[in-house]
Amino acid sequence: MAASHNLNLCSQGTALKALFTGYLIVVAIGYMMALVQIQFTHGMADGEFGLSVDDIVYSYYGKRSSSVLEAKLNGSMQVMAPDEDRAKIINWVHQGADEQAFFDSGIRQVMDNRCIMCHSAESGMPIPDFTEFENIAPRAETDTGASFSSLARVSHIHLFGISFIFMFVGLIFSLAAGVPKALKATVIVMPYIFLIVDIASWWLTKLNPNFAWLVIIGGGSMALSFAFMWIVSMYEMWIMPRNRDDNRDALLDE
Ligand code: HEC
Repeated sequence: MAASHNLNLCSQGTALKALFTGYLIVVAIGYMMALVQIQFTHGMADGEFGLSVDDIVYSYYGKRSSSVLEAKLNGSMQVMAPDEDRAKIINWVHQGADEQAFFDSGIRQVMDNRCIMCHSAESGMPIPDFTEFENIAPRAETDTGASFSSLARVSHIHLFGISFIFMFVGLIFSLAAGVPKALKATVIVMPYIFLIVDIASWWLTKLNPNFAWLVIIGGGSMALSFAFMWIVSMYEMWIMPRNRDDNRDALLDE
């Protein structure tokens, strides 16, 4: 029997330590699985293994230059139309390649003047017939990354789920007696702040690819505070008691 039972991790009984430890270990494995899953869903977005800023841009903002139409207009079809007309078409692609806008903003006319002498059934060339909008639309489709509905779905799952995980990790860590008050409060609140930063940055990256680095800062800082709380809690439960008794009260002796 321990000499004193103060409110700190060090002097808890084995049952509570076992409960805390079991939880912390399973949550840590869950965290690692999440990192593996990120590698599969986002890590390969740029065609190379490993998570990079490009992956995040492609995942949330999309690979907006990847439509065939734009690639060709900057490639083998560049000589077919003056810059002004090519810009018009590319602009239309960037705005979502809307069918109504195809006619209203003069894209139909540009194509009639510049493209269909080759891109039509009459030319006899074995290339897509651009007199039909149906043949243009699939070539104008841009990869705009994650949809707003999928972002909303993933965001609310993460906000609810991760805040729950950090509630318990933070509660356990709050019983660590050896961490100065200010540092402890900071480490406990950090995951919540960076969770919001992380998720907000998905939406911001969807709108502007320059925010991709914020996704990394948000996610990385969250992982750092998780690791800190995990290690300190484990240390105070299992290693510290071997060396000494702890008669401090982690919650009151601040
Ligand atoms: C002088 C004939 C000619 C003109 C004019 C022309 N193209 Fe092409 N286009 C081709 C040929 C030949 C190919 C197939 C070879 C290639 O992909 O470079 C092609 C291929 C393409 C493709 C790829 C189609 C696919 O899915 O494989 C696109 C997109 C395209 N052209 C767009 C345009 C646009 C837009 C214009 C007008 C600004 C235009 N082209 C004008 C001859 C032409």
